[in-house]
Amino acid sequence: MRITLGVTGGVAAYKAAELVRRLQQEGFSVEVVMTRAACEFIKPLTFAALTGKKVITGLFAESGGEANLESAIEHIAVAQRTDLLLVAPATADTLAKFSRGISDDFLSTLYLATTAPVVVAPAMNVNMWNHPATQENIERLRGRGVHVVSPDEGYLACGMTGAGRLAGQDAIISAVREVFQMRQDLEGQTVLLTAGPTQEDLDPVRFLTNRSSGKMGYAVAEAAARRGAKVILISGPTALESPAGVTRIDVRTAEEMLNAVQKHVAEATTAIFAAAVADYRPAEAAAHKIKKTGGEFALRLEANPDILATIARKKGERLIVGFAAETDKVAENARKKLKEKDADLIVANDVTAAGAGFDVDTNVVTLFARDGRDLALPKLTKREVADRILDEVVRLSASVKHQSAD
Ligand code: PMT
Repeated sequence: MRITLGVTGGVAAYKAAELVRRLQQEGFSVEVVMTRAACEFIKPLTFAALTGKKVITGLFAESGGEANLESAIEHIAVAQRTDLLLVAPATADTLAKFSRGISDDFLSTLYLATTAPVVVAPAMNVNMWNHPATQENIERLRGRGVHVVSPDEGYLACGMTGAGRLAGQDAIISAVREVFQMRQDLEGQTVLLTAGPTQEDLDPVRFLTNRSSGKMGYAVAEAAARRGAKVILISGPTALESPAGVTRIDVRTAEEMLNAVQKHVAEATTAIFAAAVADYRPAEAAAHKIKKTGGEFALRLEANPDILATIARKKGERLIVGFAAETDKVAENARKKLKEKDADLIVANDVTAAGAGFDVDTNVVTLFARDGRDLALPKLTKREVADRILDEVVRLSASVKHQSAD
């Protein structure tokens, strides 16, 4: 996801540098546009170094004394390639321009030219913030669908105390995430998911299983449905409620899971395999309860089918997302699974790490994509991880469509 960060001319402009870092850590690609006044507070070079991209500071880049054509239409190119315009800090002047449609610099022109969602985080003196003109502009922008991250109260650079301090990074980031989540970017897609453990019968009262609670897979199912997808959730035994709007099919064994997946996969545009499927099952399930003999008891196991690999063999244009539950050499093993199972994306978790893996509400994952992009995420809730996985699904689907159009 690409964010264009507009930095305007206030003391809080320096905080935008840290914001760039946070957005990048969250997995966003960031491009910076600065107003002339912002350049008085912080140098474009700071943002160029942080983003590795040119920083746009004006409508017309001078080349040999003359404005060139490329720069004259650059605001259109930026408007088209951005997924979200975030302005932080947003001054009273910029908010007024946005509100009135004045487009006398790059940022205000970009605001008019883009159809992407817009988030503004105002920062200014308390009286400027409370002034009816500013409040009227804010209301007009809200009415137009602009998301406003209200300023914090506190001690301001001007020496006064009150509302006007740039909102904290967490509030800005969560507003950005919320806007992305409100998007129905999976509309028209069908996502098939496996989740939870499998149970492999030994006899009528015993089975082999594992510690999967289903939380990770259910979080992805819930997020995919929220983002507009039709979701078919094929679930091993869990204690979880079905997420809203999801079709759930309950199974117990790996074989049942494979059958259910094969029955429904034809309609799926994306298949995501979050289940902890037993690799082996008892070679024979006893018809009657196995009696205690007192001596040693040897159990013969046979391999279960690999559901992911079976489906990936005939994937066509379907996107295949696998998980990798690892305890060591996480990256190496995940890359191996990506290749060997012919997946498009592998979500690798070190299930021995604190707050990661089985039966907790958080996870620490790295996403390994077929196109070589690796994305290491910090510890996040499984709901947040779910959205990151789906962001990658959206990105990879777009590249598949792009390739088939070429
Ligand atoms: O359910 P939770 O308590 O929330 O825990 C989440 C989780 C740890 C189960 C989840 O994050 C996770 O890692 N799921 C995959 C578990 C697993 O079986 O990993 P694996 O590395 O053994 O398998 C690799 C991939 O092949 C997985 O996508 C798996 O679903 C799939 N597979 C494996 C074996 C098999 N027979 N068929 C499969 O489809």
